[in-house]
Amino acid sequence: MTLIEKVEHKIREQFLGESTGHDWHHIKRVWRMAKYIQEREGGNCEIIELAALLHDISDYKFNGGDLDKGGEVAFDLLMELGAEELIASKVRYIVDNVSYKGANTAAEMNTLEGQIVQDADRLDAMGAIGIARTFAYGGSRGQSIYEPSLSVNLHDSFEAYAKSETSTINHFYEKLLLLKNRLNTPTAIEIGEKRHIIMEGFLKQFHNEWDFNVIELKNGQ
Ligand code: ADP
Ligand code: NI
Repeated sequence: MTLIEKVEHKIREQFLGESTGHDWHHIKRVWRMAKYIQEREGGNCEIIELAALLHDISDYKFNGGDLDKGGEVAFDLLMELGAEELIASKVRYIVDNVSYKGANTAAEMNTLEGQIVQDADRLDAMGAIGIARTFAYGGSRGQSIYEPSLSVNLHDSFEAYAKSETSTINHFYEKLLLLKNRLNTPTAIEIGEKRHIIMEGFLKQFHNEWDFNVIELKNGQ
């Protein structure tokens, strides 16, 4: 078995039943999308595939909201499975830096391999699947689909972003609509533009339906 196959088995087992939007199918889509982007943009395939498979391992959301120790968990697993230390440490760097950390936070991702995995992960948070995942995750947090009394918050620290009270509709303004301008590679930017338009259309329709009675009354219908 190759190292990638060993990691695939391990991750499939761990994520199969997950239902907060980080399920095995999310990982598989990110893996496939990362390979698609790599074919067009270059980068080391093995690092990209391993980092895509491991990118959500031990996410901060599964650690009681505390430290993100995903990179360390990924590194230890790769070493246990016989990876070269240099490969394992490059994957650790990507896993540690892949996540979105708030609208007003500076993100660091200094390798092409990391930029590609980050793009693939971000594309999966956009479009129709992005909409589905965000409501699944919001529900798992016990969050309202929309709460107009909560204002949109452009967080300037990861801690504030991770802990803030929000509604799932607000999450679009706090993260999902901002992703279009945070994609790294031309290939991802092209795909992201279409997915961004899908989300804008969804939000427009959502707000129209939310305000339906008001519009109806105003029109005297
Ligand atoms: P990723 O898999 O891209 O790292 P996250 O781990 O940040 O994404 O979150 C998983 C999914 O849940 C994404 O689609 C993300 O936008 C969504 N999400 C994160 N935080 C919230 C929130 N507070 N409310 C609703 N959806 C959220
Ligand atoms: Ni992810």
